[in-house]
Amino acid sequence: MLLPAPPPLSTEATEPVVEWDGVWCERDGRSVLRGASLRSAAGEIVALLGANGAGKSTLLRHGNGLLRCQRGVVRIVGRPVGRRPVAELARDVGLVMQQPARMLFAPTVRAELAAGPRALRRYDPDWCARLSERFGLDPLLDRSPQLLSAGEQRRVAIAAVLAGRPRALLLDEPTAGQDARARATLRALLRDCAADGLAITLATHDLGWAYSLCQRWAVLAEGRIAADADPAAVLAQPEVLGRARLSTLAVAA
Ligand SMILES: Nc1ncnc2c1ncn2[C@@H]1O[C@H](COP(=O)(O)OP(=O)(O)OP(=O)(O)O)[C@@H](O)[C@H]1O
Ligand SMILES: [Mg+2]
Repeated sequence: MLLPAPPPLSTEATEPVVEWDGVWCERDGRSVLRGASLRSAAGEIVALLGANGAGKSTLLRHGNGLLRCQRGVVRIVGRPVGRRPVAELARDVGLVMQQPARMLFAPTVRAELAAGPRALRRYDPDWCARLSERFGLDPLLDRSPQLLSAGEQRRVAIAAVLAGRPRALLLDEPTAGQDARARATLRALLRDCAADGLAITLATHDLGWAYSLCQRWAVLAEGRIAADADPAAVLAQPEVLGRARLSTLAVAA
């Protein structure tokens, strides 16, 4: 087990931690999301798949309040996001962006790991130390996050979000730029986090990695979730694969 047991949810165990319910979003006059619905429950790892530009990052950004629904509703632990500030929502949901360097601002990796939990009044040095060890960040602790490699920056950003002990984790392309060892480590770590009750939703093009990790694949196409099932069931739907430009060959890779 990686995480100490999280505080019990005040809601029924079956209630999703994050729920996107009929989300519509228009950007620059173009319709990106057209009633997209998805649920992320405690202990689940859901892959969000789709072509470039399908709206995966847009959907994830609705999940932590960075973007607000034009129509539809996002609920976090049963409560609509509405106009609640991002800082308040961060107590429950952490998002690691597709370009994680944008999230890093502290002078050192050590300070970066502490910043989020301090802001949330949840700083636990032992927990930060465990994350640092698990993510292989110990040799980097006194370095500037801005001067790290892209792969290192992504690991720091994921650890920094987990340091705040969210109930739900949204990861945007977590394996992009990660070497084989880092991908394997991240897979093991996310499994541990899910076993401890974290609700994980991750956008990815890394189908082989997602096949072995995620119980559910949700496929975004034309602004809606076109399929939401276990990976084998999704792979058996060639029409959906074609619309989302998913290649079965990538699973074997
Ligand atoms: N800030 C923005 N302003 C206007 N349009 C945007 C903005 N961000 C994204 N878009 C548009 O929204 C659509 C969905 O983008 P999004 O980044 O959500 O796709 P994605 O599925 O994450 O793609 P990728 O696989 O390339 O990361 C795209 O057409 C994109 O051009
Ligand atoms: Mg994206």
